[in-house]
Amino acid sequence: MPLLIRRPSDIRPSEITSPEHFSRRRELIAALGLGLGAAGLALPRHALAAPAPAGVSPPTGFPPVARAAPGSPWFSDEAQTPKSAITSYGNFYEYGVDKADPGKYAPGLLKTRPWTVAVEGEVLKPRTFAIDDLLKLAPLEERIYRLRCVEGWSMVVPWVGYSLSALINKVEPTGNAKFIEFVTLADPAQMPGVRSPLLDWPYVEGLRLDEARHPLTLLGLGLYGEALPAQNGAPVRIVVPWKYGFKSVKSIVKIRFLREQPTSTWTRAAPSEYGFYSNVNPAVDHPRWSQKTERRLGEWRRRPTLPFNGYADQVASLYAGMDLKKNF
Ligand code: MTE
Repeated sequence: MPLLIRRPSDIRPSEITSPEHFSRRRELIAALGLGLGAAGLALPRHALAAPAPAGVSPPTGFPPVARAAPGSPWFSDEAQTPKSAITSYGNFYEYGVDKADPGKYAPGLLKTRPWTVAVEGEVLKPRTFAIDDLLKLAPLEERIYRLRCVEGWSMVVPWVGYSLSALINKVEPTGNAKFIEFVTLADPAQMPGVRSPLLDWPYVEGLRLDEARHPLTLLGLGLYGEALPAQNGAPVRIVVPWKYGFKSVKSIVKIRFLREQPTSTWTRAAPSEYGFYSNVNPAVDHPRWSQKTERRLGEWRRRPTLPFNGYADQVASLYAGMDLKKNF
């Protein structure tokens, strides 16, 4: 299957970063003398020689999952992207900028037990959840969602999790909470990429509270009926299917409820290229490439990109009256 072959129309890692950031990356690679070539982030040598996964607790006893069946709001009859492709082609800059890096390095380095997620800020009941509490907080559901990366590739993933609103309701946001921020782990021992100044670590992303409460917004704990693979953001991530993939933040350790809009990592890196909303929108091109079409992993022909990634009937009302060209 031609899944991993780069097509000329794909956006290269050098292109998702702004030219300024990309040159910082090249300087860093040169400074460290790693000679990784244009496609590799400056990973320390020990990471490049990462041992086979050992001591990284493979989750056992994953709870039962209610499968999405025809008639369920989470069902889709679109062809699902094979698990082998979902786990070997992705973005997780904490492990490198090449699409294959997360699958190569994260499974051997990321320790997913013990793991906690601290929930704080404008809430009446701040709380730190252990991952096993999160697995039990609500029944696990299969959610078959499209994921559209800002770079122009896409896939269909049978995620496992439940609406983030289940967690939000437990902590009871105050009337002041208007936004929510998600923070990824940034441990250089487990994530060698965070030693590079490519991005401001930790990776953070944010949503408006009503977006976070929308039933489609998923607290992701697995895919294909099993625990999340390390490279896909184990043990817990967010999935917001109507937004570009970079809003779907991986391996989260903190959730903050805020009065003011947070600045996301990619917005900080290149504000004119990656806005806070980042709703999938074929009518607003990226300044350096078109967003009108996308390539589904496993397919050769590009297909049209749909407004809100095909979820407009469910989410467009969240943006009523807003100019989505300005609020990109
Ligand atoms: N989360 C963190 N912490 N670091 C990242 O580099 N990349 C984002 C998003 N979440 C990223 C992240 C981008 S650009 C995309 S397209 C999706 O993860 C990819 O998710 P996948 O690798 O599971 O397909």
